[in-house]
Parts: sequence; structure tokens; C-alpha cells
Amino acid sequence: MWTTLFTVAAGLASLPLTHAFNNPPGVDIWCGKAYRASNASFNPGGWFEQPSYSSTPLLDLKVRPRMSIYLETDAKGSLLVDTTVSHIVGDPLPVQARTNYTDQNLHLDIHILSDETQVASVSNHTLPLDTTKAEIPLSFDFLTPKLTPYTITTTATLINSITNTSFTTSSELFYLPQRTDGGSATRIDHRTGMLSYIQDQSVTWTPIFPYTYYAQWSLYWDTNTSTLESFTSQGYNVIHIVPTGTLSDTPFPWSSFDPYLTSSDKQNLHLQYDVLFDPTDLTKLTDQVTHIHTHPSLLLYYTADEPDGKGNPLNSTLLAYDLIRSMDPYHPVSLALNCQDFYYEEYASGADIILSDVYPVATNTSWSTVYDTPCNATYGCCGCDDCRGEFEDISDRLDQFYEFDAVVGWEKVHWGAPQAFGEETFWTRYPTAEEEVVMVMLSVNHGAMGIVMWDYPSSDGIERVTRELAPVVTGEVFVGFLEEGDRTVGLVKGAGRVDVAWWVVEEEGRALVSVVNLNYRGTGEVRVGLEGVRVAGVEKVLWGGEGWDVKDGELVSEGLGGLEVGILVVDLV
Ligand SMILES: *[C@@H]1O[C@H](CO)[C@@H](O)[C@H](O)[C@H]1NC(C)=O
Ligand SMILES: *[C@@H]1O[C@H](CO)[C@@H](O)[C@H](O)[C@H]1NC(C)=O
Ligand SMILES: *[C@@H]1O[C@H](CO)[C@@H](O)[C@H](O)[C@H]1NC(C)=O
Ligand SMILES: *[C@@H]1O[C@H](CO)[C@@H](O)[C@H](O)[C@H]1NC(C)=O
Ligand SMILES: *[C@@H]1O[C@H](CO)[C@@H](O)[C@H](O)[C@H]1NC(C)=O
Ligand SMILES: *[C@@H]1O[C@H](CO)[C@@H](O)[C@H](O)[C@H]1NC(C)=O
Ligand SMILES: *[C@@H]1O[C@H](CO)[C@@H](O)[C@H](O)[C@H]1NC(C)=O
Ligand SMILES: *[C@@H]1O[C@H](CO)[C@@H](O)[C@H](O)[C@H]1NC(C)=O
Repeated sequence: MWTTLFTVAAGLASLPLTHAFNNPPGVDIWCGKAYRASNASFNPGGWFEQPSYSSTPLLDLKVRPRMSIYLETDAKGSLLVDTTVSHIVGDPLPVQARTNYTDQNLHLDIHILSDETQVASVSNHTLPLDTTKAEIPLSFDFLTPKLTPYTITTTATLINSITNTSFTTSSELFYLPQRTDGGSATRIDHRTGMLSYIQDQSVTWTPIFPYTYYAQWSLYWDTNTSTLESFTSQGYNVIHIVPTGTLSDTPFPWSSFDPYLTSSDKQNLHLQYDVLFDPTDLTKLTDQVTHIHTHPSLLLYYTADEPDGKGNPLNSTLLAYDLIRSMDPYHPVSLALNCQDFYYEEYASGADIILSDVYPVATNTSWSTVYDTPCNATYGCCGCDDCRGEFEDISDRLDQFYEFDAVVGWEKVHWGAPQAFGEETFWTRYPTAEEEVVMVMLSVNHGAMGIVMWDYPSSDGIERVTRELAPVVTGEVFVGFLEEGDRTVGLVKGAGRVDVAWWVVEEEGRALVSVVNLNYRGTGEVRVGLEGVRVAGVEKVLWGGEGWDVKDGELVSEGLGGLEVGILVVDLV
């Protein structure tokens, strides 16, 4: 989101955080960079460090629970195992194993520990080198539900005629008591990044693709609870109420906020709850989590809005995360990052879900119209950090964050926070309805597993189109494919800047295909395919024109309209 930038940037000089980074005293920063014409550029630092290339192949071993949490009502679970061969991260493979990976087997010895005492083991699994997300069943027979995590330790041995080499790794397993206090639970599926939740006494998890807006408290909400009903009736399944305006920097007043919570429950509207975390005052956070954690509508927490832009202390997001998890292990935590590359690892360490708010439409990304300075890698604030003013700014950011994650070795979930505002500061106009759909689906194509647009209310055109898209992206068919399928980048012939993603569900012989034309102009004939996959026919068009044919196992359009988006279900040969 954006609006806070000005209040915070303007107030930065008075905050003690001001000199925490490379900035000289008295120099205000955004994403670490000086942005006032009166201040000179300096190296902001905080760039993600890519490890050097290792000519020796490395084993990047990962063994972790598939689900972020299990409940005692879950009959069974599973582990996901990666035996990835990498040249960037991991431990060196022995000489004998450096070629012909797939001929090499790793024998896994997995133990589950509670307070360093072994309580169960998952033994006798053998996997070839260089596999990803292999699933191993996990029984809970010997586990007692508890609020603190179990530890999973794995020794993987590469068995070889000459020498046996072992690798070790560990992770945490949450096996939690069923809730009896009316509260909900939300888990992340680390295979796909999909969220699912459980409410009341249900034992069945319901997958959800969060699709919503940020909505500012005093711009919309605080009039009366019917605002929430009208919001829900438009098809959004989550609400992020931003504590702004009359609230300033104080948390929601419970007396006036409670009716909204009650209303959310009635309508099955889930909350991304904004705790408005203040790193200097943990009591506020404690108070809010205490109040909200048993609320049935709670889907997840949101602790920080653009902490990287603001230059919050590097340890602040993790502090908030640890505190929340100690009070409530049943819900994940999110935050939004605004910078392209400013202490990503430190800020992202404090959340399970990272939203990136990249706003490239109708703005000058090389010259700051607000501060009258150039914008580049070390200087200036143009409202879209290190952007080119193209849709690809959004997909590049998501791709880059996923690449960073792979190096760090963690699995963050990424969501998009598309631009649904304009006519202010850096942005001369609102995005059009067509641009909005492009930004939403381009994000999804690049792995966004939720969408929270900034902000509501928006323009008539944007509100209309996002309402129309709601039943598609929150619907069973779409969510089912994102949950079951593996996202793959597709091949496009005949036009540049057409972005395609596939979610193939092999067992069903079906796939979801999302085609996004990033060009403002129409294209000639476009063919969309996927290696190793042949399309037999179009089963259903969920969004966009019907003009799709199938030729030689590929999807063919005679021509895509400017900014046309197509979401199709196809049958495979
Ligand atoms: C930075 O700009 C501020 C505000 O215009 C000014 O007061 C300050 O002296 C400048 N500092 C440096 C180091 O340029
Ligand atoms: C790798 O496998 C190929 C084909 O199976 C074989 O010809 C080659 O000798 C193997 N290389 C090594 C180093 O084992
Ligand atoms: C391990 O699994 C293999 C193949 O499933 C089986 O043949 C073998 O007996 C098992 N060994 C042990 C010790 O359970
Ligand atoms: C490697 O481990 C296997 C299984 O434990 C064992 O049978 C074999 O003797 C070991 N080989 C060497 C070289 O230590
Ligand atoms: C409540 O809010 C709705 C939607 O903004 C508005 O139409 C309605 O008039 C309001 N009702 C009252 C009693 O203020
Ligand atoms: C967090 O970092 C700040 C400096 O930015 C430091 O003063 C504080 O002690 C740190 N807090 C913890 C708990 O490490
Ligand atoms: C951005 O502003 C600069 C300086 O005014 C101008 O030269 C450039 O054409 C503008 N770019 C865009 C895309 O508007
Ligand atoms: C960014 O622009 C500033 C101001 O023109 C300049 O001093 C600085 O060298 C530029 N940085 C880069 C990386 O181009």
C-alpha cells in the first residue's frame, strides 16, 4: 500500500531509526535511498547476496512437513523431500556422485523428536538424487498434540560402493490440539503455497484463494456494518481493514470494531488482520492478538506494511512473528514489501506470506514527479522501486523473490498487491479495468497465491471488473487446479509479451491455462503449448473470449485483443 509512505517518510527525521542504515544523519530514505533533491545519492546497501557458483555439485537437501500445521483431527500427514542438486546452495557431493545423479540413491533416516527425545521415526525411504517435493507419508500414531513444535531430523546417506556419505537437515513439525475455543485454524500447503482453513468443529480443511482489497477504516468502514455486507456480496472472500485515518496509529477500538467481526462471521468473510505492529511497543500487539486469536473469521495476521520502504529495524518483523506464534500457532503471518531489493532476507524472515506491492501503471519510474529527482538503483523515490513502468515489474519481482527464497532455503508464500488506485502523487490516473485484470492474472501466473489490491473503494471500472473476476478466482474449479496442479511456465509462439502459466493435473488429464497479453495492441495468431503435454480440447472458458481452437495439441487464438486475458480449462490427450 502506499498512503502511509508520506506520513512515515515525512516523519522519519524524528524517528530514532533514521541512522540505522547507510544514510547520513538528516537524510530521509525510502528503500534505503535518499529521495530528496537536497540530498545526494549514496549506496543504500541491503542488496541480496548471491552465493558464488560452486563448480562442485552440491546437495540441497530439504525434509519438511507438507503442511505448516497439522491438527489432532488430521488422520495423517506427509513430508516433502527435496534432494536437489545445485551449484549455489548445499553441501558438496562426493566425487563418485557428481555425475549420473539419477542413478544415485539417498537412503533417508528420519526421526521425530520432542525436547530432544525421539518419539517416532520414519525410516527406510530411498530417493534418487535430484528430485523435488517427493512426498513421504507421516503417521501421527506416536505423537501427542501440543502447542510447541516437534523437531524432524533427517540423515540422508548416499550409498556407494566406495564410500557412504551422509547429509543432515532438520525442520519443525506442528501437531496441534484441536481448537475448543471457537477459533479457526489456517494452514499452508508447502507443495503449492495454497492456504486452507478449518472452522467450528469441522475436521475438513477448505482451500481458499484469498481475493480482496485493502480497505481503509475511515474511508469506508466505520460508517456502519452494512459496508461489510455489501463488500462480501461482491464476491470477495477476505477483507483487510487498514487501521488508518481517524485511528491514526492506534489499533482498532474494540467497542466499535467488534460489530464488524460479528458481521464477518455471519458472512463467512475471512480476515487478514492488521495488527499495526509498533516495534517500540509490544504490548499493543499482545493486546490485539489476545483479543482476536479465537475469532472464527481470522484467516491470518498482517504485521508490517512496507517495513523495508520505511526502514523499520531489521529485526522488527521477526520479533512480531515470534511473539504472535508464541501466542497463536494456528494462523500464519503476512507482511507487504515495497522495495525491489532492500534487506529482503531480514524483513521476509518475519512472515510466512509476503505480499509485494508493485505499482507500475501511469507513473514515471525514472523521474520522481513528487520530489523532482531522478530515480535509479541508489537514489530517488518514484513510487515503484527499481521499476521500468511495465507490467513485467510485477512478475519480475515475484520471480526474483522466489529466487531469493531458493537461496535462503525457505519456502515463503507470495501474494500480489496490485495497483487499484491512481490520480495521486506519482500516479496520473487509475489503471483501467483491463490493466487491473492483467496485473491480477500476471501475478497469479508468477506464483501469487492470493491477491489483495490497494485499495477499496476504487474506480467504477476496476470495481466492476474485479467483481466479475471474483467468482472465477475464488471458485472451486480455479482453486482446485491451483491446489492440485503444478504451476509451469508455458510456451508461446507468434507474439512477444504474452505471459502463460499452466496448472496440469495429470491424474485427471486436465489443465488450467492462463494467458495474459501484456501488449496494449492486439496480436496476430498465437499458439500456446506446453512441452510434453498435448491439448485435446477446450473444456471451458472461465474468463475471456471463446476464440480458442486446438491444433496439433496446442491452443490457438487467431489473435488476442490488447490486454486480453484468457483463463481456460483444457482436456489433455
Ligand atoms: C538532506 O536534506 C535535508 C532536508 O532538505 C537537509 O536538511 C539536510 O541538511 C540534507 N542533508 C545532507 C547530508 O545533505
Ligand atoms: C554415466 O552413465 C552413462 C550412461 O549410463 C555411462 O555411459 C557413463 O559411463 C556414466 N558415467 C559415470 C561417470 O559413471
Ligand atoms: C525397506 O523397503 C524395501 C522396499 O520397500 C523392503 O524390501 C525392505 O524389506 C525394507 N527394509 C526394512 C528394514 O524394512
Ligand atoms: C554403506 O552402507 C551400507 C548400508 O548401511 C553398508 O551395507 C555398506 O557396507 C556401507 N559401505 C561402506 C563402503 O561403508
Ligand atoms: C450504512 O452504510 C451503507 C453503505 O455505505 C449506506 O448505504 C447506508 O445508508 C448506511 N446506513 C446508515 C444507517 O448509516
Ligand atoms: C532490534 O534491533 C535494534 C536496533 O535496530 C536493537 O536496538 C534492539 O535491541 C534489537 N532487539 C532485539 C530483541 O534484538
Ligand atoms: C519521465 O520524466 C522525464 C523528465 O521529465 C521525461 O524526460 C520522461 O520522458 C518521462 N518518462 C515518461 C515515461 O513519462
Ligand atoms: C542515481 O542518480 C544520482 C543522481 O543523479 C547519481 O548521483 C547516482 O550516481 C545515480 N546512481 C546510479 C546507480 O546510477
